[in-house]
Amino acid sequence: EKGEYRHFMEKEIHEQPDSVQHTLSEYLDFVNGKAKAGPTDFAAIDRVQIVACGTAFYAGQIGRYAFEKLAGLPCDVEIASEFRYRQPALTPGTLAVAVSQSGETADTLASLSWCKANGLKTAALVNVHSSSMAREAETLWPTHAGPEIGVASTKAFTAQVAALLALAVAAGVQRGRIDAAKEAELVKALFEAPRLIAEAMLMEDALKLVAHDVAKATDVLFLGRGAMFPLAMEGALKLKEISYIHAEGYAAGELKHGPIALVDELTPIVALAPLDEVFEKTASNLQEVAARGGPVIMIAPKSAPDPHGAGIRRVDAPECHSLIAPLVYAVPVQLLAYYVAVQKGTDVDQPRNLAKSVTVE
Ligand code: M6R
Repeated sequence: EKGEYRHFMEKEIHEQPDSVQHTLSEYLDFVNGKAKAGPTDFAAIDRVQIVACGTAFYAGQIGRYAFEKLAGLPCDVEIASEFRYRQPALTPGTLAVAVSQSGETADTLASLSWCKANGLKTAALVNVHSSSMAREAETLWPTHAGPEIGVASTKAFTAQVAALLALAVAAGVQRGRIDAAKEAELVKALFEAPRLIAEAMLMEDALKLVAHDVAKATDVLFLGRGAMFPLAMEGALKLKEISYIHAEGYAAGELKHGPIALVDELTPIVALAPLDEVFEKTASNLQEVAARGGPVIMIAPKSAPDPHGAGIRRVDAPECHSLIAPLVYAVPVQLLAYYVAVQKGTDVDQPRNLAKSVTVE
């Protein structure tokens, strides 16, 4: 039931402090500051191949940054509908991971079965624990988002990201890349995520104002670097799905290789800019956009310096460890899409042409 909320999507966005907390407790021992890999031996594999569709694919891409950075584990991520038909060349030490809310998406399930039939180790990161993928994979990695009703995925996405980040820490420990002190630091950062996700909800009023303007646009660009790049694509997908506004997510550094030609005063550019090692790079991309008259909305912590350039509007995000930035910044991305859709009066929970679970290819 929706309770005090107007839509299931709004309710599910607000459930994320809890759903992320429940999911993290599966993969972390908060008391002792340890990551738990469960039955998975990350020292026994030499590559991860993630397959997924839609929002789960973006969660997988965020996971890739973490597996490679924290565990030195090569990781590929592919859209399942491509993977299953292209005869991928995979080596025997590969762990194939299907990421899916429903566990029933036809292309993802077929990709998982293909990997299993070809002798690879398999894991399924799924929210529905009795699903086909949960049964098909050797290892079940559960997310604990609870039932997700809104067709546009929100809390299932952050649960997937939380699980992947925690598993990447576990993988880093098992592979000797993370010592006990670093493990404690990263587990603490993840422990803070539910509180900071709750704090990110306080951006709601500022985002309603931004949504008022974004609702008038016919095209919107989302920009980010590092793990914020897949989140930018997720932001664009969310906006397309429920507001029917055309949106694209780009790696901020890729802008000058083409998309900057789209910049004009009618195209809002939403930048996801946590204060991390690439902040300055993103800031200089935003100056380039602003200099060309693009209305920039920069989502960044208060402590981030102001990029010089007219027209840069800021929305203050909570300060956070860069590991959990994809979880914290998912909130403004979802709220923005939500309030634009509300402004446009679309059917938020049942957007046109979309189904919750895509069980046909
Ligand atoms: O159930 P799954 O996670 O496998 O679903 C994958 C996609 O169909 C799903 O994420 C879709 O992109 C959502 N509508 C996104 O909001």
